[in-house]
Amino acid sequence: MTFQKIDGKKIASELRVNIKKQTERRIAHGLAKPGLAVILVGENPASEVYVRNKCNACEEVGFYSLSKTFPYGVTEQELLALIDELNNNSSIHGILVQLPLPEHINEEKIIEAIDPLKDVDGFHPYNIGRLALRMPILRPCTPKGIMTLLKSTGIPLEGKEAVVIGASNIVGRPVSLELLMARCTVTTCHSRTVDLAAHVKRADIIIAAVGIPGFVKGEWVKPGAVVIDVGINRLETGKLAGDVDYQAATKNASWITPVPGGVGPMTIASLLENTLQAAELQSD
Ligand code: GUN
Repeated sequence: MTFQKIDGKKIASELRVNIKKQTERRIAHGLAKPGLAVILVGENPASEVYVRNKCNACEEVGFYSLSKTFPYGVTEQELLALIDELNNNSSIHGILVQLPLPEHINEEKIIEAIDPLKDVDGFHPYNIGRLALRMPILRPCTPKGIMTLLKSTGIPLEGKEAVVIGASNIVGRPVSLELLMARCTVTTCHSRTVDLAAHVKRADIIIAAVGIPGFVKGEWVKPGAVVIDVGINRLETGKLAGDVDYQAATKNASWITPVPGGVGPMTIASLLENTLQAAELQSD
């Protein structure tokens, strides 16, 4: 079986060019620049890189962005006060709180404080609820990016067996809802799943979002399956590896995302799409 690589880097770059053009058109019509506020708490090096990349991407497409960093010991009240201020700031159309937050902060409470129309992460119960009811507005970024990648293959999704490995609020659950909305038959596997291999072996579409390098074995991949690898794991060698044993999986897959250069760049591209969408919703 010959496989084709799904080039997330290229697809994300095309999306960014398109977003930049739409932003220029907005500004030419006298509308505000889309504005994104990114909130970071503490000194998690991975989060610092993500936040920097998000702000740089905003700049590149002509958005306004501001980032606010708090020390690890910030209180819930201080965070809620900033969110309240940003909810009422008309130059800010999107608010993103980088996760994870320290243990003393109630993540749900923080997410629920964000105005749902500024919730560009799509994590607010309002936005997740709308996705579950097949009437999404702002959709979680990584799942949205995954759907864009699947669409790029041209393979019809309707009726396909989709197996999602991972049930997190950020990826596993919302991507399962996206696939269900695309009329796949969806199985969501997690740490308590019995005989994971048997589930994966039936899948036409495999979404791996576990955070363990090489967790999904190549021989589990059904011939012709589409493999989407969400994992970005740093090995001791310093190299990045996905959740799927890539070399072995390419022997069976029809389409597969590489790591890096697959899902990763799509998360930020989807965030830019959501910020533009939020600005449009708020200009209406
Ligand atoms: N941490 C890991 N992924 C994400 C994401 O997509 N959004 C936010 N806010 N935090 C994250």
